[in-house]
Amino acid sequence: MKFHVLTLFPEMIMQGLGTSIIGRAASAGTISLDAVNIRDYSMDKHKKVDDYTYGGGAGMLMQAQPVFDAWKAVCKGQKVRCVYLTPQGTPFTQQIAQDLAKEEELIFLCGHYEGIDERVLEEIVTDYVSIGDYVLTGGELPAMVMIDAISRLVPGVLNNESSAETESFQGNLLEYPQYSRPEVWHDKQVPEVLLSGDHNKIRQWRLEQSVERTKQRRPDLFQRYERNLKCIEQLKKDKLSHIEMIEVIRRGKARLIYFKKDGVLLQDIESGYFMATATNEQGAEQIVNSLKEEMSDAAKAPSYIVAHQDFLKELIAFEFDYDVLMECKQAVYTRKEVLPIKKVVADKYQFRNLTLEELPIVSEIYSYGDEESMKERIQKKALFGLYQEDSLCGFIGIHPDGSLGMLEVMPEYRRNGIGSLLECYLINYALKQGWTPFGQVDVTNLASWKLQEKLGLCLSKNSLWWLEKKSSK
Ligand code: ADE
Repeated sequence: MKFHVLTLFPEMIMQGLGTSIIGRAASAGTISLDAVNIRDYSMDKHKKVDDYTYGGGAGMLMQAQPVFDAWKAVCKGQKVRCVYLTPQGTPFTQQIAQDLAKEEELIFLCGHYEGIDERVLEEIVTDYVSIGDYVLTGGELPAMVMIDAISRLVPGVLNNESSAETESFQGNLLEYPQYSRPEVWHDKQVPEVLLSGDHNKIRQWRLEQSVERTKQRRPDLFQRYERNLKCIEQLKKDKLSHIEMIEVIRRGKARLIYFKKDGVLLQDIESGYFMATATNEQGAEQIVNSLKEEMSDAAKAPSYIVAHQDFLKELIAFEFDYDVLMECKQAVYTRKEVLPIKKVVADKYQFRNLTLEELPIVSEIYSYGDEESMKERIQKKALFGLYQEDSLCGFIGIHPDGSLGMLEVMPEYRRNGIGSLLECYLINYALKQGWTPFGQVDVTNLASWKLQEKLGLCLSKNSLWWLEKKSSK
């Protein structure tokens, strides 16, 4: 991830972010940080960058020309999102951090004095963001806040892979209290349960603490948590069919758009995909109305929409510019135990994340994928290969919506049980993350059906349909 900051105080940015985790990530090259002095682009002989405002009023305004030229020098004609830090922007949240963390490059524009000439903002800014309802003297601190929050979501920045996922705000709950040595401090004893070694009890206690703390300290988040729980309850009436919606909510990446007895519409924040289910035609109408609002700006239409009923899929395909791509059933691993992989087998093969070097091979063999989306999966460490003495025998991965799939075995290694081995590996990986492993099987893919049954996955009775945006082909 490359961060560029357009500022009048570059040293503030470099010093502020030069230490600790972010500084280390920058030194290691996991992220890159470059602070560009807007003053260097002033055409004035005194390097002046500000002037009085037309119409009068106190204070000076940053002029358009130096800001525009600094921006042009950084983005070099490429389309790069440019975030302007302003109290007038959208309030910054973990969701926005997750969304921005998907970019490869970002520009932050820091204002000073009374702000920046509106005309240049209109031309270069893609996102207006505020870090809270208070006024600071400039955009540098807000830019640093955002860069910190985004960087820690970039793979490799935190050394513990899972810690970015398990902290505050996932699933709308605050983190539970934590304790370290000594066992007694100021007459205060560490809660007994944490010393018990019983991991189930500890997990349960931590959840209760999180719930209680959220209720006390953040009633707004607690309300959202309760609404999510109720929605899961409703979806669970047909759990197998709705597993992808349930998991998106459980993994804390759902934006619940419509939720009534007659239907649910949500957006998976990570992939941007919409997922919808309706119990009747009225529910379907409501969902379509919500989708109309969501996609009033064509740029907000995601590549895919998942519909759970035949009538809903017809209605969405009719109302919006989407084609029906395929009909699937869900395959769900409903048990908690990991699948055994025999030692003799495990010794013969190695599993590891695919690298960009393998991108040409995998995007050629995986029939549903294009090179760009496979590249993204590799960068997110969501594609795993199985190797025998450094030869890639097959691969499997996690789709942007969290379902398991993309299974392919190289022709020369087929009929060796490698597909089954790859799937076992990924199911175990998903269990370790605390997920319910599931995949979606094209109803015409008989080989995959057989494999799911063999591994003991439960297949949903009902189908779901993937709709693809017409222009995305
Ligand atoms: N610039 C000044 N105050 C700000 C705030 N609260 N958020 C973002 N940018 C700002």
